[in-house]
Order: sequence, then C-alpha cells, then structure tokens
Amino acid sequence: MKIAIACDHGGYPLKQALVDELEAGGHEVVDLGAHQYDKDDDYPDFARYLGQAIQHGQADKGVLLCGSGVGASIAANKLTGVRAAVCHDVYSAHQGVEHDDMNVICLGARIIGEETARELVRAFAGAVFSGEARHIRRLEKVKGMEAGG
Ligand code: RB5
Repeated sequence: MKIAIACDHGGYPLKQALVDELEAGGHEVVDLGAHQYDKDDDYPDFARYLGQAIQHGQADKGVLLCGSGVGASIAANKLTGVRAAVCHDVYSAHQGVEHDDMNVICLGARIIGEETARELVRAFAGAVFSGEARHIRRLEKVKGMEAGG
C-alpha cells in the first residue's frame, strides 16, 4: 500500500521511525516532509500536502504528525475526501478504518512514545474498511455532510 507521511516540527521526532516501520511492513512510503526540523513551520501546510496526496491518488492512506495530533486532524479534515482522526490507542487505529473508512491517522509526538506509535501505524496500515451495509450507510451520510447537505 502507498502511505503518505507528513509532520510539522512537533511531530518531527517521530517521523523517521514511522517511515522505517511502514517500509519494514512492505509499504511504499511517500515522505512529504518536514525534511528538517524547523520550529517555525506550520502544521496546516503539512496537512494540506498529505491531504492533497490522498485526493490525487498519490497515496491510499496517510500518517500525519504534530505535537498533539489535534491541529493536524482539524486541518486535514477540511480537505474533501480526507477522514482523519487522532488515534492513540490500537483499537481506534484499526476500527477507525474498518468502520469509518478513516484514511489518515494523526499522532501526537509529544503524547505517545515511539513504540506505541509504531504499533499504531501497523494497526492502521493493516486495517481494511469492512464494507458492511451499516458502515457504508453511515459513510454516505458523512459524505453528504461534507458536500454541504
Ligand atoms: C506546534 O508547536 C504544535 O502546536 C503543533 O504541532 C500541534 O500540536 C498542534 O496541534
């Protein structure tokens, strides 16, 4: 699977470990930066890069990192077709995909450690939307809201 990853300075300390983890799992990683630590960079810029990669089919899923995961998820969810959530527990990391078709996981590098983050991206990357009727029905309602309905 093609998985994009991006971070601001708050998420930067976790990014390379997660690139390594995903590649070790056989995934193709699209690294959208930040490529160096810059205390003045802004998480909405990286949320935009990552969301656009998903919108344009350059990645199937995304991992977005900031200090808490919160700003990243708020920004990413502004982009049509992006379904992002902060998931700092393994159940949510896979259930969010299975039930809600979440396509971006947001993680806070100031909140969780590297081993937890590795486990979360493994659970997220390995999960598949169930396609069950009730989940499709709910997803269609979410898409309707996104479309302004
Ligand atoms: C950056 O200092 C920090 O505010 C940002 O990474 C993130 O935590 C926002 O939610």
